[in-house]
Amino acid sequence: MAEPTARIIAIYPGSFDPITNGHLALIARGSRLVDRLIVSILSNEAKQPLFSVEERVDMLEEVLKPYPNVEVGLFGGLLVDYAAERGANLILRGIRAISDYEYELQMALMNRRLRPNIETAFLMAGEAYSFISSHLVKEVASLGGNVSGLVPPSIEARLKHRFQQRSVRI
Ligand code: PNS
Repeated sequence: MAEPTARIIAIYPGSFDPITNGHLALIARGSRLVDRLIVSILSNEAKQPLFSVEERVDMLEEVLKPYPNVEVGLFGGLLVDYAAERGANLILRGIRAISDYEYELQMALMNRRLRPNIETAFLMAGEAYSFISSHLVKEVASLGGNVSGLVPPSIEARLKHRFQQRSVRI
């Protein structure tokens, strides 16, 4: 008799301040490779995020509705401890360019040292998204530039509202 196939429960961690179309494309592709995907927001106010954790949870829940095996999570502390708590066996990360590689490799190796049974897998960002980052999106939006096509429409509206409200500059 064939062995039952192990279920893959993956964590896709990040700051998501805010989620971009690059993140979303990766989530869409990743969700087809695993049984469950938990998109998990690092709750770290020390990073002085533009959007609060509650706002980021709301934003993710809104844009991730079309993906039945994707859910939103929140974590503080060590990523691998959170992954173990959630019963996850995989960490999913995206790589946009060679410049991402060194940092991602360091994190993957450290996470493996901390918990060798949790694997990290990387997906290459689609070429259309390789230049998009939350940081640049915020900078462009804060200076009145057009970010349509870089983030989902609901996030674009929130960015406009936030920068009108606060007249903040990144
Ligand atoms: O979106 P980001 O900022 O690139 O995500 C970075 C993140 C959240 C994946 C990373 O900072 C993280 O895992 N932080 C949790 C703390 C931790 O586990 N540190 C040790 C990992 S090397």
